[in-house]
Amino acid sequence: MEIFNKFSLICLGVFIVVCSALSANAEVHRHKFVIEATKVKRLCKTHNTITVNGMFPGPTLEINNGDTLEVLVLNKARYNVTIHWHGVRQMRTGWADGPEFVTQCPIRPGGSYTYRFTVQGQEGTLWWHAHSSWLRATVYGALIVRPKDGESYPFPKPKRETLILLGEWWDANPIDVVREATRTGAAPNVSDAYTINGQPGDLYKCSSKGTTIVPIDSGETNLLRVINAALNQPLFFKVANHKLTIVGADASYTKPFTTSVLMLGPGQTTDVLIRGDQKQSRYYMAARAYQSAQNAAFDNTTTTAILEYKSASCNTRKCKAANPIMPSLPAYNDTNSVTTFSQSFRSREKAEVPTDIDESLFFTVGLGLNNCPQNFPKSRCQGPNGTRFTASMNNVSFVLPRNFSLLQAHQQGIPGVFTTDFPGTPPLKFDYTGNVSRSLFQPVPGTKLYKLKYGSRVQIVIQDTSIVTPENHPIHLHGYDFYIVAEGFGNFNPKTDTSKFNLVDPPLRNTVGVPVNGWAVIRFVADNPGVWLMHCHLDVHINWGLAMAFLVENGVGELQIIQPPPSDLPIC
Ligand code: C2O
Repeated sequence: MEIFNKFSLICLGVFIVVCSALSANAEVHRHKFVIEATKVKRLCKTHNTITVNGMFPGPTLEINNGDTLEVLVLNKARYNVTIHWHGVRQMRTGWADGPEFVTQCPIRPGGSYTYRFTVQGQEGTLWWHAHSSWLRATVYGALIVRPKDGESYPFPKPKRETLILLGEWWDANPIDVVREATRTGAAPNVSDAYTINGQPGDLYKCSSKGTTIVPIDSGETNLLRVINAALNQPLFFKVANHKLTIVGADASYTKPFTTSVLMLGPGQTTDVLIRGDQKQSRYYMAARAYQSAQNAAFDNTTTTAILEYKSASCNTRKCKAANPIMPSLPAYNDTNSVTTFSQSFRSREKAEVPTDIDESLFFTVGLGLNNCPQNFPKSRCQGPNGTRFTASMNNVSFVLPRNFSLLQAHQQGIPGVFTTDFPGTPPLKFDYTGNVSRSLFQPVPGTKLYKLKYGSRVQIVIQDTSIVTPENHPIHLHGYDFYIVAEGFGNFNPKTDTSKFNLVDPPLRNTVGVPVNGWAVIRFVADNPGVWLMHCHLDVHINWGLAMAFLVENGVGELQIIQPPPSDLPIC
């Protein structure tokens, strides 16, 4: 009887998947991703770079809302790898989400795994990247989701669409860079270049030849899909003499607004319209750091591409010598520009923001310093004053399991892999953005999850701390989009700040830039069962433990239960 029930459930599950795949012309797109080392030359030097199918950046996937992706990943590299589909909700398909040791064990060298999932109700620009060590420095690409056949954008159809993938390049093996940092306890070396579509551009040595050219015609409107795929750096982006009209972010449409500069934290995407309304010429599009942490080393270089009017298209040497017009970018620490920008976002339609909150959470996010362990030599404690860098949420520094993924441990009831006592509020209240006592710099390591009942309505106040240094943290939640109902500076004050919540048309996103020395409030409904990582999307901070995970329980109906794991799911 028992077995019969399970079978009929599975059959029903298969039936539903097949039916929804067949309805409304939804398609199944099959791809093969071979992870392999390829020679890539940048900044005068050739590296053995880990890529997908020998491409850097990796292949762009283009689908329509409602389509299914089936991506076979073959690992021919010498590192463990997983692929994460950043921003895809993965409704009931958590096994395909990708973060290593969270929803799967890594794909070992020589191994393979097929990611199968459907993208439903999300339109715009997402992306994919490796979610293992620092492989995403070079293993990343775009995932474009267009409206269903017969449906259109909620804005006039642009003449052209161009991808602008912002990246970060080390003139070294990025895996060596992070390993070295893990050994010394110091901050990892900063990058040597930023890139646009894999190219640093004219301002770097040996880089002019490959500079990305973005064509435009007089009078036409183009859509730029801008993605910040950098590892550790929020970036400003600007185009000389041209205004940009934001129409979407993180695969949700926004009320259009016009700006001269964008700021994207790693993980965020922004869709913007640009009009060919300037003198026919060549203009730089440029990106460089928004650096909110003071006294911290950062890569202060500038990457460029060229917006080129057709009639000004340039083949002769004389033309190439005529420099494109350069935009003036905001100062590195221009937080005012960031605030003006982030506070301009509104969802396009009236939003379904949950109002009666079941889980009111308060998470601090920030750095920390561990005292040098007694058995460590000095060489392993090269953080400030002989310490080692760390980071935490609510004073818990997140540690990944090694022998099971969290989702597998949850599903199979394997004990001892995690606990569910992640604190919903800070274990100790203090003046988060004030002068914090040195005694509060050392968080507790742990693999702690926070349990959510299926369907619970969740609010999280995410509060930056000034421990070591305040900083703008791009906080990303897997498996969900959330509404950003408010943000501000200083300590969140429920008495005065709650009245400022936008419950009408707040933006829906998967990554929120928590203001430096400030806070952001997000809301979502826990309607996707599984284990979902929430973390700072600065990779250096994940290494230090700036993460936690939610365990969202199954509901009762068959559409409220996570699907069974695929048979080829990698185990540890
Ligand atoms: Cu794009 Cu867990 O990240």
